[in-house]
Amino acid sequence: MSEQINSAIRWARNRIEACSDSARLDAELLLAHCLDKPRSYLYSHPEESLNPVCWQQYQRLVERRLQPTPIAYLLGTREFYSLVFATREQVLVPRPETELLVDLALQLLPPEQSMRVCDLGTGTGIIAITLKSERPMAQVYATDVDPACLVLAQENALRHAADVEWIESDWYRGLPRTLRFDLIVSNPPYIAADHPFLDQGDLPAEPRLALTPGNTGLEALQQIIEGAQRHLVSGGYLILEHGYDQQTPVADMLATHGFSEIHCEYDLNDLPRTSIAKRVEKAKSTA
Ligand SMILES: C[S@@+](CC[C@H](N)C(=O)[O-])C[C@H]1O[C@@H](n2cnc3c(N)ncnc32)[C@H](O)[C@@H]1O
Repeated sequence: MSEQINSAIRWARNRIEACSDSARLDAELLLAHCLDKPRSYLYSHPEESLNPVCWQQYQRLVERRLQPTPIAYLLGTREFYSLVFATREQVLVPRPETELLVDLALQLLPPEQSMRVCDLGTGTGIIAITLKSERPMAQVYATDVDPACLVLAQENALRHAADVEWIESDWYRGLPRTLRFDLIVSNPPYIAADHPFLDQGDLPAEPRLALTPGNTGLEALQQIIEGAQRHLVSGGYLILEHGYDQQTPVADMLATHGFSEIHCEYDLNDLPRTSIAKRVEKAKSTA
């Protein structure tokens, strides 16, 4: 007997519950993907029988979900800021909290001005591509140390016709020393290497390079803040996403490196998530 849509979803949900808090949603997304239909189709055709090829594909995807493989890798896409981005293993899955960083960046980029922006550690390219889509006049640069990220980011840029300058670089190292930006943004790796969180949920399936920069979790933030002094114009801004418990050390590092107007914005879960600061030119000694 062939499986019906509603019983297939029940079967999958019961299995996926072992690894996901959103088992029903995951089960529906995977089945809609196999059927190449919107999710609403599942509700309008609950008793439709699945053909054997579709049922087998579904079973394979559910088994992979249990490994666990993040749903975005199985579907091959993730929505961010109302745009659809290709996702794939070896590149971090875009997170909704990063939309806050984009909102803050857009507030600093007037639509009619050609400001120069750099996204450090671009991953799938979500930040750079969204900024270019929203602010076509901006000159957007994006870097990553991992060539696999840059390949995927460029695919996503093509998908959204976003003209971004992609540079393979260990933070600022691959950038021309004289290149200066009006705005630098980054969602760097910021989880401490021994944090138990790294072993939970879907995180073990995501690239460690994208999640942890070292023992304290602050190493990448530190390097980005240090280098920003050289690569920001005077009066330029730095926007950094960080851990909910890193607001104070990030503010301290920014202050140590001479930034002003330092403040932190809270994400949708009301957690301190994204810090902003302005670069001020150091007064030249007259002695
Ligand atoms: C947390 S992920 C963010 C990805 C993407 N910007 C986003 O918000 O989804 C951090 C990114 O930084 C990159 N990265 C890690 N170390 C780096 C380094 N030394 N220089 C440049 N990029 C680095 C990783 O490859 C990864 O793509």
